Amino acid sequence: MPAITLTTLQSLKQKGEKITMLTCYDATFSHVCNQAGVEVLLVGDSLGMVLQGHDSTLPVTTADMAYHVACVKRGNQDALILADLPFMANATIEQTLNNSAQLMQAGAHMIKVEGAVWLAESIRLLTERGIPVCAHMGLTPQTVNVLGGYKVQGRNENQARQMRADAIALEQAGAAMLLLECVPSELAKEITSAVKIPVIGIGAGSDTDGQVLVLHDMLGLSLTGRVPKFVKNFMTGQPDIQSALSAYVAEVKAVSFPGIEHGFSA
Ligand code: KIV
Repeated sequence: MPAITLTTLQSLKQKGEKITMLTCYDATFSHVCNQAGVEVLLVGDSLGMVLQGHDSTLPVTTADMAYHVACVKRGNQDALILADLPFMANATIEQTLNNSAQLMQAGAHMIKVEGAVWLAESIRLLTERGIPVCAHMGLTPQTVNVLGGYKVQGRNENQARQMRADAIALEQAGAAMLLLECVPSELAKEITSAVKIPVIGIGAGSDTDGQVLVLHDMLGLSLTGRVPKFVKNFMTGQPDIQSALSAYVAEVKAVSFPGIEHGFSA
């Protein structure tokens, strides 16, 4: 696989070819995901739950993230590495710049920040300084305590209107990618066609420009036994992990995953 850049992702959107993304936290999985052709590896702060055993992503630090970004970077040289800025690492502009710089210096190619239109100024500053940004909208796990749980977002018309407007504002601020988590499939489709930048979905239906899942979820591994509706176990019927990863890539590219049953209605 040739090295994946933002230009590659833009051209996949323009061609209508789906983008594949999985979370990844270590060098071995980085290598096997790359062998399977996964284009973007997200070093997600979900590592706080699936690796560290916490019940939310809030305890994860920038040092934790930098450690795992460096591990993923050593596993392959081709995939685009997207790294989460963890909880409160963007509390001030200075912290946003310093913590993002640490993740880029550890090997990330792009930073993901959770939020909405209030991110516009930091997205502009990061982009001006050479750090591309993915804005994570919809269900933002770092604000689970404000949201009152892990709930679908954008189900009523006011919320949906606000999310559409925020997506456009963040693109104008310089965001290079959007990630929509747990939003109604129809709203995700509207946002995807309203912006020129790639939109990746998780629990957002099949009409986004690409898909992401948490690696452990799609391999059928769970600490809690609770499996979100949008997850498919790709180990089912596969002889090994490498085949399961290849099946994920093939199904996302063929738009056979996610199915209607993995999405949400308004
Ligand atoms: O941290 C993470 O794994 C994520 C995904 C759920 C998109 O942000």
